[in-house]
Amino acid sequence: WAAVAGSVHHLLLAAPRSFCAGVERAIAVVEQALERHGPPVYVRKEIVHNARVVADLRARGAVFVNELDEVPDGALTVFSAHGVSPAVRQEATDRRLPVIDATCPLVTKVHAEARRFAGRGDTVLLIGHPGHEETDGTLGEAPDRIRLVPDPAAAETVQVDDPERVSYLVQTTLAMDEAAGILDTLRRRFPALAGPGSDDICYATTNRQRAITAVAARADVVLVIGSTNSSNSRRLVEVAERAGARAHLIDGVGDIDLRWLVGAATVGITAGASAPPGLVDEVVAALGALGAREVSEHTAAVEDVVFTLPKEVRQP
Ligand code: F3S
Repeated sequence: WAAVAGSVHHLLLAAPRSFCAGVERAIAVVEQALERHGPPVYVRKEIVHNARVVADLRARGAVFVNELDEVPDGALTVFSAHGVSPAVRQEATDRRLPVIDATCPLVTKVHAEARRFAGRGDTVLLIGHPGHEETDGTLGEAPDRIRLVPDPAAAETVQVDDPERVSYLVQTTLAMDEAAGILDTLRRRFPALAGPGSDDICYATTNRQRAITAVAARADVVLVIGSTNSSNSRRLVEVAERAGARAHLIDGVGDIDLRWLVGAATVGITAGASAPPGLVDEVVAALGALGAREVSEHTAAVEDVVFTLPKEVRQP
């Protein structure tokens, strides 16, 4: 403590940070479902990838399951913000489960593109991380036609059926610079490569990465608030590191290792799109208690995106 106290004097907050419109909507879906129907409300997968959000909703009666076979017959079920494959949708229909779909509309857009590209006979190259729920859901739209391209090496080797009929999609929460590099390789190999009408990397991912890039250039160390399974939060750590800062992913104050702060005059702070703003307040308060006196903000964009709730839980 002695080595740290007095050394940290400036907290530089990245803006935007924390919740995006898709996460706010997904959490509101579960809250409204609990309010209207009473607990339990079953949620397939974590509604969003954040430990605090999941713990809070669990305490209020949400039951998080991995697959639909853990949901009792007839129980109200919510699909998470990351989306589901058509096979999961079909399983819910077959079992006549009452479902409220909290998939982010920007993920739904990528699914629609996947169906359109695959439907016209393209091989679809999906730039994204294997095993993530969003990529699993998108791949499920056309498992025979969509190939996952997780990294630059895969971009060099992936094979397509017809180089004249090939298109690409991108996971919504990827690092912009990383995806751009992979896309360059794909365009070089497949000059006829077609893409989505507008970027798949979503506005919230883009804005948070731009903000932390500027903050990281001025900070000695960067703290990214987010859970380890949060794709967009992990990308913020990588982006901050590429911008020249030491960066650490923390779920909250308890994860801060004071050794990171030794000699750090300016600490940059951001939060992934699934991390509640209250966690940021807690971190700022804790660093204030260590002696940080100056708090300022770097604003890369002002967000005013709001998504309407699904009809099942919309206010009349
Ligand atoms: Fe949607 Fe982007 Fe948030 S895809 S859930 S708005 S990070």
